[in-house]
Amino acid sequence: MLKTDFLIIGSGIAGLTFAIKVARRFPDKTVTILTKANTDESNTKYAQGGIAVVNDPEHDSFQKHIEDTLVSGDGLCNEKIVEIVVKEGPQRVNEIIEWGTKFDKDKEGDYMRGKEGGHSEFRILHYKDITGFEIERALVEETKHFPNIHIHNHWFVVDIITQHHLGYLVTKSTPDITCYGVYALNLQNNNIEKILACCTLMASGGVGQVYRTTTNPRIATGDGIAMVYRAKGRIENMEFIQFHPTALFEPGVSPSFLITEAVRGDGGKLRNKDGKAFMANYDVRADLAPRDVVARAIDSEMKKTGTEHVYLDCREMDKEKFLAHFPNIYARCMKIGIDVFEQMIPVAPAAHYCCGGIKTDEMGRSSIMNLYACGECSSTGLHGANRLASNSLLEALVFAHRCSEAVSDSICNLAFNEDVPDWNASGTNEPNEMILITQSLKELQQVMSDYIGIVRNDIRLQRAMNRIDLLHKETEELYKTATLSPQLCELRNLITIGYLIVKGAQFRKESRGLHFNTDYPQKSNLVQPVVL
Ligand code: FAD
Ligand code: SIN
Repeated sequence: MLKTDFLIIGSGIAGLTFAIKVARRFPDKTVTILTKANTDESNTKYAQGGIAVVNDPEHDSFQKHIEDTLVSGDGLCNEKIVEIVVKEGPQRVNEIIEWGTKFDKDKEGDYMRGKEGGHSEFRILHYKDITGFEIERALVEETKHFPNIHIHNHWFVVDIITQHHLGYLVTKSTPDITCYGVYALNLQNNNIEKILACCTLMASGGVGQVYRTTTNPRIATGDGIAMVYRAKGRIENMEFIQFHPTALFEPGVSPSFLITEAVRGDGGKLRNKDGKAFMANYDVRADLAPRDVVARAIDSEMKKTGTEHVYLDCREMDKEKFLAHFPNIYARCMKIGIDVFEQMIPVAPAAHYCCGGIKTDEMGRSSIMNLYACGECSSTGLHGANRLASNSLLEALVFAHRCSEAVSDSICNLAFNEDVPDWNASGTNEPNEMILITQSLKELQQVMSDYIGIVRNDIRLQRAMNRIDLLHKETEELYKTATLSPQLCELRNLITIGYLIVKGAQFRKESRGLHFNTDYPQKSNLVQPVVL
């Protein structure tokens, strides 16, 4: 058994930033990070375009960034949260610069700013086309200054512990559901350990792996959202899954390599199979319309022309600038025989970001006591029905700070719950057929991609639900009898994520932002989140 004052699940931008903040604030308290892979493996590590922040008052303003976020969110953003994130953003970004994060500067020493879909100004700070890698590097380095931070790699968190584990009946209407820590599978010895904590932060990232084609790495299996849902916490807005318009089209390669929207910000043009630029037919903002609009336009072009991809044309772009800003993209395309200055890049939409998640208040508190949530697994109200590009890293920084502020007053009053029992693994055996897990995962990804992708309708949603229901029943049976493995837990979590996405989509009888249902093509007047 392990005891820690602060327990953090996940070592991406959200988890690491919170860890640094609370470790600095409470030097005599223990801060433990559990993470299921290597420390740096996260969605954060693969972020390309950068971080949207107002840092050029001559051309940009808070009001413009707020307006862009609200327009992109299509009526469903929480305006107060938008204002908080945009206005607190510059301070938080300055902090990570102080911790050693580098962003590109021009010859005069001024920050270079990129532009992506839905932004009215050039405001995206970046480090070449590997901004996330640079942020993750700097944060991991910064944690090393704090002897009270302990990072445990290859620990897979299975469930959060609540009154349910003490033998009480816990339902959605139970008041004061409380988090006492977690059960986690130590992948070095395959033991399931009990970890007690005064305060737990869920920072477990996204859900992309629920789809067949995604930009998200293998770790993005929605574990935290599924755990909180099982613990009867509130989850919202799960129907809003963002598909990035331009993932490199490479059949059989997973995850898909991203071609950042910043390429279009610098002049890249989308073209269909006949070489025709098509975005102006769909939106006056053309190639720089918000992501939901561009992804739907590409989907429609692909369906019209019967192709599996469109093209991104960079041939007219300034070669020197391209190589300075996008060296990684250039190299990756070259590796598969595409010289971006000579040939167009085949691209197609891929599942990219979960706009919903664990519902939090403005300080990152979830509906479960002593449990905070931050980063992609959370739903703070910032993104509404469609996240504005490069607002995600910013949100994680602002909310990691807010969570750390919220715990400061209460932490000293919290005590470990010593009545929590150890994990009971009796009656379980090694499953003798991995195919039971791998085939179910393939089926789930197929169902999600074919029935509940960019365009939906009621029949597809019902079919998806029927199939998810069957997968759920089969997997729960297996879970009762099989020794736990990350693969089984991830499958179980992804089935829950699939269920939440379909359920949210079934509730939303309209089309808004990323949720487009051909049976209800208009927006309704009922502008509110679906809370499950
Ligand atoms: P993550 O960085 O995903 O970290 C989650 C952590 O939780 C990982 O360490 C993981 O191992 C751990 N974890 C998960 N489950 C468990 C478990 N059961 N037990 C233990 N540990 C667990 N956003 C932008 O703002 N700008 C961009 O330019 C940008 N580009 C992107 C490009 C790509 C290719 C992708 C995939 C995303 C991009 N995004 C971008 C989105 C952004 O990167 C993510 O939303 C953000 O990094 C999420 O940070 P996080 O800390 O919440 O989660
Ligand atoms: C990109 O670089 O296009 C991704 C940015 C984001 O997801 O915010």
